[in-house]
Order: sequence, then structure tokens, then C-alpha cells
Amino acid sequence: VALRDFALGLPKAELHLHLEGTLEPELKFALAERNGITLPHTSVEEIRASYDFTDLTSFLAIYYPAMEVLQTADDFHDLAWEYLVRAKAQGVVHAEMFFDPQAHTSRGVPFENVIGGYRRAAVRAADELGITAELILCFLRDFSAEYAMATLMEALPYRRWIVGVGLDSDERDNPPGKFAAVFARAKAEGFFLTMHCDIDQVGSIDNIRAVIDEVGVDRIDHGTNIVEDPALVAIAKERGLGFTTCPVSNSFVTEQMKSDEIVGLLREGVRVTINSDDPAYFGAYVGDNYVALAEQAGLSHTDLVQLAINSFEVSWITPARRAAYV
Ligand code: HPA
Ligand code: ZN
Repeated sequence: VALRDFALGLPKAELHLHLEGTLEPELKFALAERNGITLPHTSVEEIRASYDFTDLTSFLAIYYPAMEVLQTADDFHDLAWEYLVRAKAQGVVHAEMFFDPQAHTSRGVPFENVIGGYRRAAVRAADELGITAELILCFLRDFSAEYAMATLMEALPYRRWIVGVGLDSDERDNPPGKFAAVFARAKAEGFFLTMHCDIDQVGSIDNIRAVIDEVGVDRIDHGTNIVEDPALVAIAKERGLGFTTCPVSNSFVTEQMKSDEIVGLLREGVRVTINSDDPAYFGAYVGDNYVALAEQAGLSHTDLVQLAINSFEVSWITPARRAAYV
């Protein structure tokens, strides 16, 4: 079949997806109305037009304030459910979804509303869509390590609902080492570990080296700047480290999909995967990202199959996790 249909239909796991990044303008508008919040925008079109940015910093400046409409457990449920319905139409059979509890607790929304709503959508997806969906708790790296540790403690009663922990938001001046103790504790508690190493940051390669050598992560989110150090690429390959790359997101925050880096790593046998990151903001869900990369880089059907295989190989699917699912 044509590459586009093949890419969208191919069964795949999505491993780099921020639930808060799936807030489509239509839902934002509906939630504002439901919660009696007055938005600065008067239409869905105006909200969509406000999703406008040129780099990570300007993206985050729009992204966090947009979350004010999310308040009740039902709001979080509806957000995740709408994502999962869209993901199914893009060939997703398994999703490991980031969520940012501190983006909500820091404005007074209880942790339990956030995780309760998200978990309800995940369980419903198994029943009604045949998709397994897990949650990855992300710490915001521009908040303190103490706040991250307190968030980890708050999450422990819900540990069966959380597969791993991650780190996102603004990387500048917030290197991985800042959270070494938090991640060591999370590992000791049995969580899988991943961290964002965003594209073209100051000190990207040093941060990638630190997450591999010092933190001991199981995956790296983005991380394609690793190509700057071939010795480190060899280590990543030997350890089977997973890289969750996001071509369309890259093209928004750097004006390039970074397809040479992604495809170079794929050809070297590094376990790179393709994901959507914040699909409501970048206008592309995960299957669309497979299509965009394939068109840009001239990938074959076989290449897309390898990318999908990688997504399952570096997923955190285990018998114990499946048992904890219900
Ligand atoms: N990088 C950092 N923070 C984020 C991202 C990202 O790609 N997406 C949502 N929050
Ligand atoms: Zn991300």
C-alpha cells in the first residue's frame, strides 16, 4: 500500500507524548465554559492562532498558561480520552504518556484530580479501544529538586498507576544532575527512568552524557544531539538505549526535523523511535510524524517497520506491568 496509509495503519507504541500537549483548541474552549473560566480568546480559531512559537522557550510560555482550564478529574479524563481516541486512528496500540503534575499542583489543583482522571481514561482505553496506556510522571526541571522529591512522595500511593518518571520543561540552567537524588529514589522505588535532552540546547552533549553515565536512564527523550559524540553513540547502541524522537516537534522548535540525525542513528542500529510530543500544538499525531519523516528522508516501508519495532522494544511493557494494569 502507499507509504502514507502504511505509516498510519502500522501498529506502533507511542512513548513521547505529553498529555497536556494534546489540548486541542476545541476542548480548551469547552473546558473553559464548563469551569466558568473567561479566556482571552472568543473562538476556537483565536485559540489555534495563539498556538504560535519559534523555539522551546516561546513554546513553553504558551503551553503552561493554556492548562488553567484543566481543574477537575473529569477534565483530565476528557483530555486523555480524546488523545487515546485519536491515537487509535494513528495505529497506536500502546501508549506511555507523560503528565506534568506540578503544572497543576502549583496552581492549587489536587494531585489526585490529575492522576485520577488520567488513570480512568487509561483503563477505559483498554476496555473500549483495546489500547494499553501507561502514565509517566514528569518533573518540571525549572522547579526545585525539593519540589520534585515532594511530588515523587505524593505519587507513591498511586505507584501501580505509574510506569516511570521523566523530566521536562526548560533545560537551560537545569541540568540532569540537579535531579540525581530524585531519580535515584525513583529507581529504588521500582520506576523506569527517562529524561528529556532537548534539541540544540546549550550543553546538550554534556547533558546527554550525564543522563547516560550518572543518572542511568532507560530511555532519552529527543537526545539526537548525541551524534556529536560517536563514542557515546556506540555506548547507547551497546546498551540498547531508546531514543524517543519527535520530527514535527523538532521542526517547530528548531526549524528542522533533524531527519539526518534520526535516520543516521536508525541506520547505525540505535533504537530510535518516532513520536508526537505535543500534537495539539504541532498539528501532527504520531502516524503523521512517521509520514512527515518518511517523506522528508525517503524512508521505505521496511524502515517504518523497524521504527515501529523499536517502539515496542524500548517500551516498558512487562508481565508485571500488565498485571498491575487492572
Ligand atoms: N521539551 C521540554 N518540555 C516539554 C516538551 C519538550 O519537548 N514538551 C512538553 N514540555
Ligand atoms: Zn517532550
